[in-house]
Parts: sequence; structure tokens; C-alpha cells
Amino acid sequence: MMETPSEYEERKKRKDDQRKINVFRLDDITLVSRSRISTGLEEFDLVLGGGIVPASLILIGGDPGIGKSTLLTQTASFLAKGGQRVLYFSAEESAEQVKLRVDRLGVGGDFHFISDTDLSVLRDLPAALKPKVMVVDSIQTVYLPELSSSPGSVSQVRECANFLLRLAKEEDIAIFLVGHITKEGVIAGPKVLEHLVDVVLYLEGERETGFRILRAIKNRFGAVNEVGVFVMTETGLQSHTKYEDLFLSGDGAVFCVLEGTRPILVEVQALVTKSYLALPRRQSVGFDQVRLSLLCAILEKKVGFNLSDRDVYVKVAGGFRTRDPSADLAVAVALVGSHIERELPERSLFIGEVGLAGELRPVRDLTLRLREAEKKGFTKAFIPKGVDLKVKEFKLEILSFSKLREVIERLFGP
Ligand code: TYD
Ligand code: MG
Repeated sequence: MMETPSEYEERKKRKDDQRKINVFRLDDITLVSRSRISTGLEEFDLVLGGGIVPASLILIGGDPGIGKSTLLTQTASFLAKGGQRVLYFSAEESAEQVKLRVDRLGVGGDFHFISDTDLSVLRDLPAALKPKVMVVDSIQTVYLPELSSSPGSVSQVRECANFLLRLAKEEDIAIFLVGHITKEGVIAGPKVLEHLVDVVLYLEGERETGFRILRAIKNRFGAVNEVGVFVMTETGLQSHTKYEDLFLSGDGAVFCVLEGTRPILVEVQALVTKSYLALPRRQSVGFDQVRLSLLCAILEKKVGFNLSDRDVYVKVAGGFRTRDPSADLAVAVALVGSHIERELPERSLFIGEVGLAGELRPVRDLTLRLREAEKKGFTKAFIPKGVDLKVKEFKLEILSFSKLREVIERLFGP
């Protein structure tokens, strides 16, 4: 018996209803999360988002001599000691040099080493050696012989990085790649390098002071803007959890910057002296020079301090460098304090961006910053007006102002 058209429609509908559609509840999907590998350094793990993700390609940039090789040797050593096989490929140093460092940092274990610049020796080796983690130091000095261009050239950098990316994914090896930063602050070679890798970290700091900051610029497996703070010691880099002390020297104005999600208390000192120059100096270490000039102009025009015959120097303690506009207020009060030779109140925090009209502008995450100061025993905070704060919840005294002039008057009298 033939199906009528309506029966046909009916049957087709039923069939469609039965067709299995794979819709999942997100809750029901269990990720086979691959366990991360600890670097042995708490702060390093934090920046990576909880340790090394297997088979990832991680770029570590920074100025020469800042401690990239040290950091990676330490991690390699830690892993080797723990029984994870490590292959360290150095195109920068001889085996003896690396051995010296490895000995200094105290190692042993499953640590393998190659001193070469020809990356193609890695074509078959890792498959046989099966390391869990590799270090390639550095991207600018290795080359692949099938390309005619010299090491460090755009095409070499790109192809070498691609080669390592494949190696990481195919052989399941986490690879750390060292890159040098040029004067412009970007890693030499094409931007494509940063796109290609899974994670980009920068190691920075002043070579003279011991502290180093490791920053995540890009992280496919974690939060960016996370920072790790280290101190360079005789035996390599150590995680520094009491880092704030480094940036507090005792007689300047204290502000609080956010590095990633971490508030760090930092002190700024100022020196205002008579100038013998036609064009007085405005110089700063760790604080933007242009902002300093602006603050001097604002102090003159809006607060009434004439600095036109004064040399002005500003220095952030501990070699810290900040681009956080909330440091303006601290710099301004430090300048005035030095100019009129008056001391600032102790245990006080100054937070606020200063606008061109001399107004104090609100800054983000004020609560976080105030809590940090409170934790460190600060008793007073000078902040911008107009921030919605539950003032009563704080133990420190909170004083809010809408103008820089008002802060100065409060501190130093009318
Ligand atoms: P290095 O890791 O070679 O820098 P990069 O690879 O970024 O060029 O670090 C060089 C500096 O670190 C060097 O001046 C010596 C210093 N250092 C220490 O202070 N302590 C140590 O334990 C080690 C290994 C190095
Ligand atoms: Mg090095």
C-alpha cells in the first residue's frame, strides 16, 4: 500500500526527531587536563599559569645578561634532578660554560646538553632521546642550513621557530626558547614569532639591583599580566615573596602599583635643587620623563610652586620602573617635600593620577591597593575623591581629595 503524502511527511518528521544530535552540556564534558610540570620556582609557575604545559612552546625574552639562561638552567636542573629528561641546546655558550653554571646552581640528573648553532641536528635526536623539556638558547643564534640567510634574519627566526613548534607538538616536548630584546623593546625578528609560540614571557629588571620581574605577555594557558618577582643571588634566581621591601627605602613617598593582579608598594624619592642651567633638568629613574615635566608644570601653574629655576630629579626605589599613572600623586608630593624641605608623614600612601588641571583622577582597583598598604602597616592613605569606597571597612585612615593643591595644603599647611 502506498504512503499518502501526508503519511510520508509524518514519517519523515518522526525520523528527523529521532536523528541523534550531539549536544553536550558543558558541565558534562570532562577535559583530559594534562598535568603541568612544575619549574621548581613558585613565581615561575605562577607566571606560566600553574607550571609548564607539556608540548608547549614558550618564548622568554629579555636584555642580555638579565638572567634568562640562569632561570632556564635552574628549571632544567630542577627537572633533571626530579627524573624528567632535559635537553639543553645552547648556541650561545660552550658546554664548559653551561657546566660551570649548572655546577654553581647545584645539579645532576638527567641533564643532556648540546652546544651547536645548527638546529637541524635536532631533526631526529629528540625522537630518540625523548626529553620532556628542552631549552633552545637563543632563537637569534641558531639556524637551519636549508635556508641561505644568516642566523637572526627574519626568515631564519621564523623557520627555526616553526621547526621548534612542530618538534614540540609532534614529539610532545615542552620547549623554552630564549630571545634577545632589541633596544626598541621587542624581540628581534618578526612579530610572527610572538604569534607562533604559545607563551611569551619577558624577564626584566635592573642589572645592578638584584630584583627581576618575569611578565607574561601572552599565554594560551593562563592569565597574561601575571608577574613573578625574583632576586638574583649567588645561587641563581630565588622567588621573592617579601619583594615589597626592595622597593621601599624609607624617606620618599609611597604609592602602590598593580603588576598584573598583584599590588606592589613602591617608593619614589625626589630631589629639587637650584639650577645653574638655562634649561633646568627634569630627570627620572623608573618614572616617565614626560610625566615628570608635566607634573612640574602643573605644580607651577595649579599649585603655585615655581620650579623654573630648579633642577628636578626623581628616582623610584629598588630599580623599579612604573608606567602606572597612579604614581603621579606620590611623585608630586615628593617633589614639593624636597622643594620646601619638609618631610612627608610616615606610613602614608599616595595614590592618584594628576590631570592637567591639577585634579586628582580615580585609579582602578583602589581597594586592592589600599588593602595591601593596610597589610604592610600603613596608617594613612591620600586618594582621589569620587571613588566608591566602603571607607569604614578599612583600618587605615582614608583621606580623599579632588585637587592636588588640597593634598599639598593638607600635608604642608596653606
Ligand atoms: P644570564 O643568565 O647569563 O643572562 P642572559 O642569559 O639573560 O644573558 O645571567 C647573567 C648574569 O647573572 C651574570 O651577570 C651573572 C649573574 N648570575 C648570578 O648573579 N648568580 C648566578 O647564580 C648566576 C648563574 C648568574
Ligand atoms: Mg644567556
